[in-house]
Amino acid sequence: MRLHSSSVAERGRDLLRLPLKTNRDVVAARQAVARELKARGARPIRVTRFATAVSEIARNTVLHGGGGSFAVFLDPASGYLMVECRDAGEGIADLDRAMTDGYSTGGSMGRGLGGAKRLADRFEIETGPGKGTRVILGARL
Ligand SMILES: Nc1ncnc2c1ncn2[C@@H]1O[C@H](COP(=O)(O)OP(=O)(O)O)[C@@H](O)[C@H]1O
Ligand SMILES: [Mg+2]
Repeated sequence: MRLHSSSVAERGRDLLRLPLKTNRDVVAARQAVARELKARGARPIRVTRFATAVSEIARNTVLHGGGGSFAVFLDPASGYLMVECRDAGEGIADLDRAMTDGYSTGGSMGRGLGGAKRLADRFEIETGPGKGTRVILGARL
């Protein structure tokens, strides 16, 4: 899958970049994205929805991906606020199954990926066995 916005993050124009190693980092990522959205005039309900999506994906990076990084940037083409969570973990072999509500290899709710896709305005994922996982989430401003 092509990730149109990834080049922006890679060029180092991100508003913010944080490590994702611990649960505290997940909380910090959630707070950072809420702050960025609020500062751009997003309504509270939309801030909460997007921050929840980011929190689920960041938690997966820490829990299933063995840690990674988090970046916030603006997509110049769409004007969306974008978030990238990436890790170099084992990746997801069966993405369709992982996206299904109730499927979890960790014995938890298994609603993180599906929920994040529903809560974000844009959702892209690039993953595979041995490829790590990279998720891009977007919020319309
Ligand atoms: N970053 C990741 N690296 C490896 N596997 C992942 C990653 N994110 C999600 N997965 C896989 O997808 C499954 C579903 O994820 P999710 O819907 O968030 O449910 P949960 O986190 O409750 O297990 C996980 O159980 C895991 O097997
Ligand atoms: Mg999860």
